[in-house]
Amino acid sequence: MRLSLFGEKLTGKAGILSLMDDLGAGVTEDGREMIMMGGGNPGIFPPMQEALRARLQKIVSDPALFHQLIDAYAPPGGDTAFLRLLAERLGAELGWPIEADNICLTNGSQSAFFMLLNLFAGEAEGGRHRKILLPMVPEYIGYADLGIGDDFFLSMRPVIDPLPDNLFKYRVDFAKLAESSDIVNDVAAICLSRPSNPTGNVVSDEELREVDRLAECLDIPLIIDGAYGLPFPALVYGQGRPYWSERLIFCLSLSKLGLPSIRCGIVIASAEIIKRIRAMNSILALSPSKVGPMMIEEMLVSGDIFTISQQRLRPFYQRKMEAAVEAVRRSCVGINYQVHKPEGAFFLWLWFPGLPVTSLELYRRLKRRGVLVVSGHYFFPGLPEPWPHSHECIRVTYVQDEAVVRRGIEIIADEVRAIFSGCSV
Ligand SMILES: Cc1ncc(COP(=O)(O)O)c(C=O)c1O
Repeated sequence: MRLSLFGEKLTGKAGILSLMDDLGAGVTEDGREMIMMGGGNPGIFPPMQEALRARLQKIVSDPALFHQLIDAYAPPGGDTAFLRLLAERLGAELGWPIEADNICLTNGSQSAFFMLLNLFAGEAEGGRHRKILLPMVPEYIGYADLGIGDDFFLSMRPVIDPLPDNLFKYRVDFAKLAESSDIVNDVAAICLSRPSNPTGNVVSDEELREVDRLAECLDIPLIIDGAYGLPFPALVYGQGRPYWSERLIFCLSLSKLGLPSIRCGIVIASAEIIKRIRAMNSILALSPSKVGPMMIEEMLVSGDIFTISQQRLRPFYQRKMEAAVEAVRRSCVGINYQVHKPEGAFFLWLWFPGLPVTSLELYRRLKRRGVLVVSGHYFFPGLPEPWPHSHECIRVTYVQDEAVVRRGIEIIADEVRAIFSGCSV
């Protein structure tokens, strides 16, 4: 089969493909059930499921609502009345000046990132090649293979701040950013996830202001991926307020609220950018699905989407996070390990300094033992030079039942201990 460069690029060995494939791997080769600590599925939160079930039943049993749901395409940015409601509710909650023409719905925020990143980076007029700046890696695995062209990202290693109790925190290295001449010439937009997937880091308000100042100097957009953030699903356990700027492109998703299969992403940006995303949406998908918007409409009107997220969903995940950290501390005694301070989202980022095998090899060994994690090396696209640290980390999710997560962490610790002592199981 002869493929185009685009075809080759989008069907190659993407980290996100391996991760999504693993979501379907229910059992080990010898038939044991897998402990799923890999992909980004949200946990099962019964109160949210109940609210969504009730809403779906109401839609199905009301002929007018059912008709609205299934038998007409929405406009390419989303249903107009819904966009007005969303603009009014998000604007009030966040204190931002949002109108309906500042919003475009997409079929999942993953597809929003495909459109947004390629809108700005790649080949431009005059033969210029421009890139997306990731001011700090590790960064979300789903960005890594989105570029239609090659050489799509420029990224920076973070500063590593050691913290007590085997914790550490990444911080944007502004001194390095200031030194890089490539940034002035080559960067088309800046992108970061907040809270961060994979680390659970929440870039501080001050760091964000400084990143935004850089965007202002370069006169480029600042894309903030709020898939785990405020105002929903609000998985922020400490500091970190919503951040507004003239240059902001802010992306939200319904997935981590409990609707990953519905595929609904929300892009908020200037009307000029939104017009272009709507145009791309109509070429790529004709129109965004109406299922997500209709499922959350009542929760938006009542404001429950914000209160359930902030008062119930956040504590649900925070308890899971604390139990997972406790399990790591108990299981990893005697191992050289570090955990990124978990400030948001639902992952632990585990670092084993001096790990004698690569994180990819550790992933393979754990998979054989029935535990699925994600190898850390996928999360470092665009680094100008190799960095051993990128092969010493893994990402684990803690959304499953506490006992399952504890068992998974015990197996991870056991395998890592065996690797360090040179006698892998
Ligand atoms: C940081 C981040 N951004 C975006 C996405 C894409 O989410 P979706 O396409 O389900 O909205 C994910 C999914 O896991 C994510 O973790």
